[in-house]
Amino acid sequence: MSADTKRVREAPSDLLLVHAAELATCSGTAMGDIGIIRDGAIAVRSGVIVDVGTTQEVLSREPSPESSREPSLEPSFDEPSLPRAHQVIDASGCTVLPGFVDAHTHLVFAGERYREHVMRLGGAKYLDILAAGGGILSTLTSTRSASLSELVAGAVKRLDVMLLHGTTTVEAKSGYGLDIDTELRQLEAAKIASEEHPVDVVSTFMGAHAVPPEFKGDPQGYLDFVLSEALPAVERQGIAEFCDVFCEEGVFSVEQSRQVLLAGMEHGLRPKMHADEIFPIGGAQLAAELGAVSADHLAAASNEGIRSLARAGVVAVLLPATMFTLMSRAYADARGMIDAGVAVALATDFNPGTSPTMSMPFVITLACLKMKMTPTEAVCAATRNAACAIGLGGRAGVIEVGRDADFVVCDVPAVDALPFSVGVNPVRDVVKRGAHVVKNAGGGGRLCHSRT
Ligand code: NIG
Ligand code: FE
Repeated sequence: MSADTKRVREAPSDLLLVHAAELATCSGTAMGDIGIIRDGAIAVRSGVIVDVGTTQEVLSREPSPESSREPSLEPSFDEPSLPRAHQVIDASGCTVLPGFVDAHTHLVFAGERYREHVMRLGGAKYLDILAAGGGILSTLTSTRSASLSELVAGAVKRLDVMLLHGTTTVEAKSGYGLDIDTELRQLEAAKIASEEHPVDVVSTFMGAHAVPPEFKGDPQGYLDFVLSEALPAVERQGIAEFCDVFCEEGVFSVEQSRQVLLAGMEHGLRPKMHADEIFPIGGAQLAAELGAVSADHLAAASNEGIRSLARAGVVAVLLPATMFTLMSRAYADARGMIDAGVAVALATDFNPGTSPTMSMPFVITLACLKMKMTPTEAVCAATRNAACAIGLGGRAGVIEVGRDADFVVCDVPAVDALPFSVGVNPVRDVVKRGAHVVKNAGGGGRLCHSRT
């Protein structure tokens, strides 16, 4: 135990998790090392992790409420010497992981797009629907006409679903307004939702998501507006941390994306990218050139693009649920990226058009079954690496002493079993900042947080 651990362990913890069949701390450094502890335990005080180890180790270090009494060495939570104030979670037979970090979502929007999904069943293509004024532009119309409170209500409802599936931190993009008022309203809605809800939300400005109807045929005119008016307004509002751009054939070119991201940096926003999703136009190379925090999608990234991400230390955020929903066979080359030394993260890309899932466990399943990631790599990608992709490396996505107590109990006996609970929610319990906010989710369970 470190000196820090000793200091925080002077008082008894207020929540103990014991007997996890496997507890993955995800605090290692390689994707294949997620620090699995068998019969694992976590002690929490005031929302912060104060001890991690085997159940026996953690119980033996637990200060007794009456200092004269020796702490129990027996790994049973019925043991009478356990302080009565403890809330105890028995994770017998279960796997405990850091709370999932969903590093790429379009959380805040209004309207539905299910008709588009049906059109795609009949053969329509994503970029053709967008070019015809549908897709992102259809969500834009509904979002522009939604009030702030409607946007907040939608976001909070979705955060509930995410939390039930084990997500405790989420990134949320604007980009369905494409005018100043609506973009700022989306960002404001994400902030309010985050304040009302246990899940933490990190915000990204994505004014360069598409060209809005009033600039049809004039993408450069729209970009000039983003640079000269929207970005300064976003900086003044002071909520967004990142700037993202949809760098894609028929949307924004590499040169236009460079302009947006460089301007974003001047306004204090760190760059992220939708890169090489459908066509390999060099988005990955641009992400590397700019030292982006992450390059996302990458289903069509070239080998050269992958090598440049590795060299520049850009996190690759892979979004297999999008490929699944678009019925594409072209999943990102996760194995090639991992072999090249790229830090791979996973996210849902939750949005109404190309990825209607809010479930990180489902994304983990796809990562393994469609991209041949190992369960260990997928868990690392959904936690520790995902936190790095949103600037929270080492602070979220890990179970470590001194970090927020964000963790999930999954009703599977081992990490290796997690991807194979297909189509059901493996999450049983969720603890966010020490609060037991989801109980028995998979069994029809309940959310136990109260909104402020
Ligand atoms: O990441 N590719 C661009 N943006 C989103 C889709 C947004 C939408 O279709 O509404 C994505 O897939
Ligand atoms: Fe996206």
